[in-house]
Amino acid sequence: MAVLHLLVFLFLLTFKTGFSADIPVFVQTGDSVQLDIQTQKLPEFDFLSWINDKSKNIVRYIRGTKEVKPHSSYKDRVDFNDESFSLTLKNMQKTDSGLYTARTTGESDKNIVTYRVSVIDAVEDPVLTVNSNWFSGNSCTVNFTCRAHDLKINSSYQNNKCSPEEVTSQINTLLLHCSEESIICNHSNPVSWKKDRINITQLCVNNKENNSSDTKTEPSLQLWTYILGTMCLFLGIAS
Ligand SMILES: *[C@@H]1O[C@H](CO)[C@@H](O)[C@H](O)[C@H]1NC(C)=O
Ligand SMILES: *[C@@H]1O[C@H](CO)[C@@H](O)[C@H](O)[C@H]1NC(C)=O
Ligand SMILES: *[C@@H]1O[C@H](CO)[C@@H](O)[C@H](O)[C@H]1NC(C)=O
Ligand SMILES: *[C@@H]1O[C@H](CO)[C@@H](O)[C@H](O)[C@H]1NC(C)=O
Repeated sequence: MAVLHLLVFLFLLTFKTGFSADIPVFVQTGDSVQLDIQTQKLPEFDFLSWINDKSKNIVRYIRGTKEVKPHSSYKDRVDFNDESFSLTLKNMQKTDSGLYTARTTGESDKNIVTYRVSVIDAVEDPVLTVNSNWFSGNSCTVNFTCRAHDLKINSSYQNNKCSPEEVTSQINTLLLHCSEESIICNHSNPVSWKKDRINITQLCVNNKENNSSDTKTEPSLQLWTYILGTMCLFLGIAS
């Protein structure tokens, strides 16, 4: 019985909301967003309005006279298409986040579509740092960290691969991509992505050169032997 009640409840819920859940939309701060009514056949209506969750009529359209009335506070940054009935909002700010509903008014009121709009900033630049790198045999191993905002991956590069490869928090993702030439760290959210890169060829070749320059320190060892020898000789003479 409980299941039946739940089903009836869910049916009424979807029926009341017009068979549609909120449609999530992400917009980058400062950008425009176009909201469509998502349907070809509207019920008979006298007025169509786009309203926000503060019950403000952002725009009202009167079918009889084809008159479009934008809300005074949206006047300069709203476009309404009186054929498709879509709403375009410009220069979106974080405070514009919220629900936007298209509603027709006639013999009865009907919600046509509801969008859940989230206005978010572009992601911050990720930063790749090398913690250590060395050769084992002929393959170059690199321990590195990628950081961005509150995300961080410690990883190790070996044989053109790295792991772990992905971390996420809420809507942000940090993704590693490793190849023969590079380590790429990609920071993304639903509206943007940015990357940082390490050139493996450069890093590992330089390291190899450093290793080979180590062998060139041998002459200084010879120099020490020479100095010690001379000192012994000098002491020998002095005594
Ligand atoms: C490199 O990372 C691996 C695992 O990620 C770890 O076991 C190893 O100790 C690290 N090596 C250095 C030199 O930091
Ligand atoms: C990541 O690596 C750095 C440098 O090797 C180390 O100091 C740090 O503790 C590591 N963090 C985690 C969460 O493993
Ligand atoms: C970074 O990630 C985003 C989102 O997943 C993707 O669209 C983009 O192509 C990626 N960029 C690179 C360089 O991999
Ligand atoms: C990586 O560095 C090497 C050596 O400096 C250079 O030849 C190569 O073009 C670089 N690769 C990329 C993708 O920048």
